[in-house]
Amino acid sequence: MPADWSRDSAELVIALDRTGISFALQIQGHLRDAIREGRLVAGERLPSTRRLADQLGVSRGTVVEVYEQLGAEGYVDSVVGSGTRVARIPGIQRPRTGVPAAAAPRPNIQIDFEYGIPDLGSVPLRDWVWAVGEATRTLPTAGLGDEEPAGSRHLREVVTAYHRRVRAGCATADDAVVVGGFRQGLAFTLAVLARSGIEVLALEDPGPREHDIIAERAGLNVVAVPVDAEGLNVAALRASRARAVLVTPAHQCPTGVALSPTRRRELVAWAHEVDGVILEDDYDAEFRYDRQAVGSLQGLDPERVFALGSVSKTIAPAIRIGWVLAPPRFVEALSEEKQLSSRGAPGLDQEALALLIESGRFDRHLRRVRELYRKRRDTLAKEVAAVFGPDRLHGLAAGCHAVLQLPLDVDEDAVVESAQSLGVRVTGLRPYRLTYPPAPPALLLAFGNLSEHQLVRGVHAIAEAVRRSKSPKSRQIASLSLSTMPGGRTPVRHRSPGSPRSSTAT
Ligand SMILES: Cc1ncc(COP(=O)(O)O)c(C=O)c1O
Repeated sequence: MPADWSRDSAELVIALDRTGISFALQIQGHLRDAIREGRLVAGERLPSTRRLADQLGVSRGTVVEVYEQLGAEGYVDSVVGSGTRVARIPGIQRPRTGVPAAAAPRPNIQIDFEYGIPDLGSVPLRDWVWAVGEATRTLPTAGLGDEEPAGSRHLREVVTAYHRRVRAGCATADDAVVVGGFRQGLAFTLAVLARSGIEVLALEDPGPREHDIIAERAGLNVVAVPVDAEGLNVAALRASRARAVLVTPAHQCPTGVALSPTRRRELVAWAHEVDGVILEDDYDAEFRYDRQAVGSLQGLDPERVFALGSVSKTIAPAIRIGWVLAPPRFVEALSEEKQLSSRGAPGLDQEALALLIESGRFDRHLRRVRELYRKRRDTLAKEVAAVFGPDRLHGLAAGCHAVLQLPLDVDEDAVVESAQSLGVRVTGLRPYRLTYPPAPPALLLAFGNLSEHQLVRGVHAIAEAVRRSKSPKSRQIASLSLSTMPGGRTPVRHRSPGSPRSSTAT
């Protein structure tokens, strides 16, 4: 939507000189150039004549004359009661840099199983407004200046207390660095590890998308470690050269398995053996349905585990606040990394989040959405069982996504495409793989942001997509057994043939 500069006291950059050319002509020239060059775009509403006259120190009549002249030339449209807007002039205005001339047509998606989005209709906006109001009212004036390098002390105290209370962690405010979400925390942590002499990072395979790219940008080599029904295969990790590993222990992304107690112990033992570190992506931990959530790995070994968290899943991705709870020897370097790249996270929002958690509103919200997600999960499970048969849906113990095992005679990509043509967005597991061992076709179904009604319709649409996409080619993998899920151990080809992004630990 074009901007509206007629309200408040928006200013236009127009420099007038007193060299003899009339102010009206100078202002006209400036506005004409701005419109031709695309600095002011079609539909943008210009300041009122009174405001622009005040800003430029000229009479209001001068600005009225300018707008009339530009209107007569076709540069602007003036409508009584709705002000003066930049006109649409085909062929004159250059497209703004970075804006594609024509956006590619988007499929009409009605049901979106895309991973990673919580129920946006349940975001506790009223509580957030309360918290921002309280933060604005109570934050001492000094709090409006630059923050401490590690972030708001109040939020670090609250977040670490929350992590100790709910996630069985043992970090204190001094171990915490506030960041702009998990991803930023990951990028900072990896940069610090690379400088500390760690060269290789192990990633779960399959695992969250794009973490390999983030690691490589930080200067680390990546090794793929397979995931099986107990989570990350620690024996395979041990066989790699890695001294750091990134894991999703509470609810593995994307397979949904929880790291087994034996693997948790083995993982910590591995970190000691190689003098290494574990990066714990603690996402989805709050949404455990069958029993209490398993505690954070950070609580097991605070000297070797970084716990990275954010409120993207628990509140909304748009809040963009997260934290890294780091082993004490890394905290200073992490704060420095943050300072050099960003100078800090939004201070009022940090205070608001601290108040939201401290007031109990955050816990109350979690209780509410946990119940909502549980119902959605049950509906999805019931509908999948009715349509596809039993034991097709995996990874349901926690979180907001599950893996649907497709019939072996279909091609994953073909189902994704066919579902899209039916207005349903789903993702296969292929985009989550670092290597491509032969694997049965499967879909990742995120259910957090879909109503029960949409879930039912979505499952039926996927069944239809499966029927439509049965092809002779896809039957070639029909001989694979389901037991190879979620990740096989034999690498066959890499994500980018010719330039593998990762090596594989087997
Ligand atoms: C595996 C995983 N970890 C963490 C996050 C949270 O990331 P962020 O805080 O950067 O939004 C996501 C978000 O989708 C995720 O998929």
